[in-house]
Amino acid sequence: MKNRRLLLFMSLWLVLALALVGCGGDNGGNAGNDTGNTNGGETDGGEEVAAGDAAHGEELYNQVCIACHGEGGQGIEGLGKPFTTSEFIADQSDQELLDFIKTGRPVGHPDNTTGVDMPPKGGNPALTDEDILDIIAYIRTVQE
Ligand code: HEC
Repeated sequence: MKNRRLLLFMSLWLVLALALVGCGGDNGGNAGNDTGNTNGGETDGGEEVAAGDAAHGEELYNQVCIACHGEGGQGIEGLGKPFTTSEFIADQSDQELLDFIKTGRPVGHPDNTTGVDMPPKGGNPALTDEDILDIIAYIRTVQE
């Protein structure tokens, strides 16, 4: 009789202890995961995964870049270089081109070959990273 009661008592404590440990761990883990997933999913998924939209890029190109780089990226003598035959463009990743277009290539830059400025963002500071990635998607389509 006495032993049984003791056993029951011990088991109760054991169950209680396990339950506490289990719940503590679960709650902490779930709470962390839930917030992490929600935040990550909403901000990252929407903004970063989108691939460049070449049609939108063409519109922007025709407003901003065409003045120097010509129709269809053919280039204009004495202004912007052609994109159609540019090995530079072919060699760069989208990210590298994005950085390049945001910085430009001024006359004093060692890589400048024309003696003409490539202005940052083609001289239009309103272009967002996404706009420029769209333009990059477009200029990849004019490459020969
Ligand atoms: C005011 C004229 C001008 C405008 C506007 C302009 N560029 Fe340029 N761009 C240049 C010049 C000049 C060069 C060549 C610089 C050099 O001598 O290396 C150049 C070079 C480049 C190159 C490197 C090509 C190569 O083969 O080295 C890329 C890419 C480029 N421009 C993208 C753009 C994009 C995209 C836009 C529009 C957002 C734009 N440019 C608008 C003048 C311009």
